[in-house]
Amino acid sequence: MPLVKSFNKYLIGIDRYDEHHKKLIDIINELYDELLKGASKHVIISYLEKLDLYTKIHFQEEEDFLLKINYPKYDEHKEIHQVFIEQISSLKTKAESELIGKELIKYLVTWLTKHIFESDREYVGFLNMKEKGRR
Ligand SMILES: [Fe+2]
Ligand SMILES: [Fe+2]
Repeated sequence: MPLVKSFNKYLIGIDRYDEHHKKLIDIINELYDELLKGASKHVIISYLEKLDLYTKIHFQEEEDFLLKINYPKYDEHKEIHQVFIEQISSLKTKAESELIGKELIKYLVTWLTKHIFESDREYVGFLNMKEKGRR
């Protein structure tokens, strides 16, 4: 049973970023399933590494985009991204020495979906306003 059952709620309407978000959530869902199946430390770490990599790629692209559209909350958004990157990194460190619990993975997905639902949707709102003003 995946952690996030329906992705539709989290669509922001920018196809490229929707795909990125879906990919990130998929990785967390898979990691969660692996944990339930009693995955080895090696498997868990490889998922966290994958998550770390794709998160960085997505955040970087999103930040470049926010800069390009002169998003007023660019700095704030970037800082929030940084917090998540640090969390993945500390989880990776933790996973090296102990078996991580599924609560931590639940926390990751809660953080990510909340970020998409609130902060990412907020820049889409800004973008829509901006485009309306141009018409
Ligand atoms: Fe974001
Ligand atoms: Fe995003």
